[in-house]
Amino acid sequence: MNPLLSRLQPYPFERLRQLFAGVTPNPAWRPISLGIGEPKHATPQFIKDALCGALDGLSNYPLTAGEPHLRDAFRRWLQTRYGLAVDANTQMLPVNGSREALFAFAQTVIDPSGGGAVVVCPNPFYQIYEGAALLAGADPFYAASDPARNFAVDWDSVPAETWLRTQLLYVCSPGNPTGAVMPLSEWKKLFALSDRHGFVIASDECYSEIYFGDQPPLGGMQAAAMLGRGDFHNLVSFTSLSKRSNVPGMRSGFVAGDSALIKKFLLYRTYHGSAMSPVVQKASIAAWSDEQHVVENRALYRRKFAEVTPLLADVLDVRLPDAGFYLWAGVPESDTEFARELLAQYNVTVLPGSFLARADGGRNPGAGRIRMALVADTEECVEAAQRIVQFVQSRSK
Ligand SMILES: Cc1ncc(COP(=O)(O)O)c(C=O)c1O
Repeated sequence: MNPLLSRLQPYPFERLRQLFAGVTPNPAWRPISLGIGEPKHATPQFIKDALCGALDGLSNYPLTAGEPHLRDAFRRWLQTRYGLAVDANTQMLPVNGSREALFAFAQTVIDPSGGGAVVVCPNPFYQIYEGAALLAGADPFYAASDPARNFAVDWDSVPAETWLRTQLLYVCSPGNPTGAVMPLSEWKKLFALSDRHGFVIASDECYSEIYFGDQPPLGGMQAAAMLGRGDFHNLVSFTSLSKRSNVPGMRSGFVAGDSALIKKFLLYRTYHGSAMSPVVQKASIAAWSDEQHVVENRALYRRKFAEVTPLLADVLDVRLPDAGFYLWAGVPESDTEFARELLAQYNVTVLPGSFLARADGGRNPGAGRIRMALVADTEECVEAAQRIVQFVQSRSK
């Protein structure tokens, strides 16, 4: 067996199962889960129609690089959303959701031969970064996010010696779970570090279309272009239809950026066998070519967050994030204890923050926080918030 498999950590939902073992949720309340970050708004009918209308595509093997119409849909979207001019032939590729791509990218980029390769990722973080680093034969380094600076990652906490060994850096903006969007100044810093040390930046942007302010989140490639890096040197962005278009089951996204990296990634993907189904390609063209449903989807989240956040802010350390569909709240006790008792007494599931982060220097930056995914409809999320308020008030008596 591959010995690196034994380095993988249990996934947060597995840890949640263990935490909840033996807990009987109060049957007086119907179960509500804010635990899993799975979009629950309805899939737009035109995407389902496009999928059904493309079933003839099942009789063909697809190209790993995707069909030209699909790549053109990515190109047009990058142009409209970020004002970018990106070459559809050399600077982008379809992927079967951003998760597999984030994982596969590390396998393409990392050179484990000399030993000591490092992958830097935020802390807390999306768990795939860690597994991708470990299975590529690298060591993850976790850079903590700082609650005092809108959860910006403290890149200065990475030791100089670690930067020297860094081959890949994951960033997540808007962040899961914090919702923080990286400003241009932070991108500038990361590009300078990448230039100095030669590492690649993988920019995970799958929450880019769910935001609460007037300005859409800055994208990594957009930041690069603004800083005169129009060739996107050492940068690849990962984006996805799952949250934007409420199709997590379709498994569709794309990557774009540095053409030299995209070329190697295509080579890797050809052997890995990760071409997108022709049926999904057709439905994806329809989805990327429409913005109206994205505007409506965003409006749903905005209304929901506007109702739920003030309720919770009365009892927890929480406020409206920049973007994403999570609330990342400080709780007045241990996050695991809070989650277990909340389930037992009020039948509401939340994810303990410490499950989404790693202890660093003895301190886990997710400890004392919980992640709430506001993916269910507004009524259900409001009811969950009201129960959490009662729960917190009862604990402080
Ligand atoms: C930060 C982050 N990146 C990537 C993904 C993967 O999404 P998908 O594979 O559906 O594109 C998720 C899913 O929850 C996520 O939270």
